[in-house]
Amino acid sequence: MSKKIDSKELINKAIEARKNAYVPYSNFPVGAAVLMDSGKIYTGCNVEAASYGATNCAERTAIFKAVSEGERKIEAIAIVGDLNAITYPCGICRQVFIEFAKEMKIIVATSENKYKEYSLGEIMPFSFTPDDLNNINNGGK
Ligand code: THU
Repeated sequence: MSKKIDSKELINKAIEARKNAYVPYSNFPVGAAVLMDSGKIYTGCNVEAASYGATNCAERTAIFKAVSEGERKIEAIAIVGDLNAITYPCGICRQVFIEFAKEMKIIVATSENKYKEYSLGEIMPFSFTPDDLNNINNGGK
């Protein structure tokens, strides 16, 4: 762990990033801010496309920005979607969390003062991980 996780700082960055969401089809803006083990924070928003399946969630936008800058390990992510009810990360994003964290904190918020925190193990139990591929490559050992 590079530094103590400041949940409110991450939430506020996610709220800022949410303003850039490109959501002409769903009108459901989401913002995310991810803290990497370098101590740097990367933000992202959801980006939609007329071919809906091309849509990228806010979480993956933030993580892919980080990874494309050379980062490899997530410490925490804050997610802000609906401002009245907590928005939880989708299954595809959870799978990407697993790719870049054995454990991490997931902060889901509607505001700086209203949020819940989870561990990756809590929201992604019995997951398929990069280690599972290694098991196959090592003859199951
Ligand atoms: N979305 C996210 O960006 N993150 C989530 O955690 C849930 C869903 C986006 C995808 C799409 O642009 C919109 O929300 C509605 O599904």
